[in-house]
Amino acid sequence: MKRVLLIAAFAAAASAAHAQTAANPYTNNPAAVEEGRGLYNGTCTGCHGANGAAGEIGPGLALPGRSYAKRTDAEIFDAVKNGIPATVMPAHRTKLSDDQIWKVTAYVKGLRGTAIDAPSPGDVAAGEAVFWGKGGCGSCHMVKGRGSIIGPDLSNLAGLRKTNSIIDALTKEQHRVYGPGGAQPHYLVPLPVSPVVRVTTADGKTVRGLLRNEDSFSLQVMGMDEKLHLFDRAKVKVVYEPKGLMPTDYDKKLSKAEFDNLLAYLTRLGTPPAAEKPQVRMPGGPERD
Ligand code: HEC
Ligand code: HEC
Repeated sequence: MKRVLLIAAFAAAASAAHAQTAANPYTNNPAAVEEGRGLYNGTCTGCHGANGAAGEIGPGLALPGRSYAKRTDAEIFDAVKNGIPATVMPAHRTKLSDDQIWKVTAYVKGLRGTAIDAPSPGDVAAGEAVFWGKGGCGSCHMVKGRGSIIGPDLSNLAGLRKTNSIIDALTKEQHRVYGPGGAQPHYLVPLPVSPVVRVTTADGKTVRGLLRNEDSFSLQVMGMDEKLHLFDRAKVKVVYEPKGLMPTDYDKKLSKAEFDNLLAYLTRLGTPPAAEKPQVRMPGGPERD
């Protein structure tokens, strides 16, 4: 009896050790990831939310905060198969086959990944030069304290966006719309977008910029001069421009090499995640929060 237990314990330890190092056979396999999504929707959303968002009972599995208890494929596989001891996260080994669990794992990993997890090839230094030079990006964007405050700060772009979303931002007018093609996946931080306005005051002065706030009485505009302007709506003429401020023809403005190098630079823009809490819980020690 003792021996049987011992063997069982040994086998469990061996399979755990195997899971720690095992590679996911479905990494970069879109069909399997899609299957994983179906399995996830059928099995996990009762506790976790749809698309990796937080649910009623379980935490978000793919939020841009990027601090997860289970990171590697092997760790996620193990959590799904065997559950997380002393928590509500159940074991799924009787519900899902190993093969299915790898697919769900590939799906969860795919939700989490952003550009920085797979930076584009190219000459990063040359791309940085395009950013501040020919691209003129610094006249609207800031990176690590340098540049302009008109557009969004791009210091952590690659930590927040998928590579496709970055390409779309540079090449498609519809990059702010959810949907196939020009899509910003909705589980990532929404893109702050402000319409462009041209405001003419009674004395004939014109200010062009991004509309930050408006009500029936006033307008707040971030001007191209990087200053915030407050207007009394009754006293000005306002023209709303049909297009956003962000130029979306960089695939034409830049050569292919320039574009690729720029992408190599952009897909590496990230701030390191905040210091992690220790992962190991001592027996009888305080619960992880
Ligand atoms: C009965 C509710 C429930 C179900 C069903 C459930 N989970 Fe969980 N899950 C939880 C809870 C609660 C936690 C947080 C455990 C903790 O406190 O550490 C969790 C944690 C996790 C974690 C670790 C979170 C992290 O930070 O990395 C992963 C990964 C995970 N679940 C994946 C899944 C997947 C995939 C499925 C579906 C196959 C699933 N869960 C089904 C409740 C559930
Ligand atoms: C004239 C101002 C302007 C210039 C020049 C400009 N941008 Fe933008 N950009 C914006 C604004 C404003 C937004 C916010 C979204 C919108 O309005 O389209 C934006 C959005 C973006 C986004 C999406 C950000 C996100 O959070 O997803 C990326 C990426 C980006 N710009 C990169 C660049 C790069 C790289 C260049 C240079 C090649 C550049 N931009 C040049 C104004 C500009």
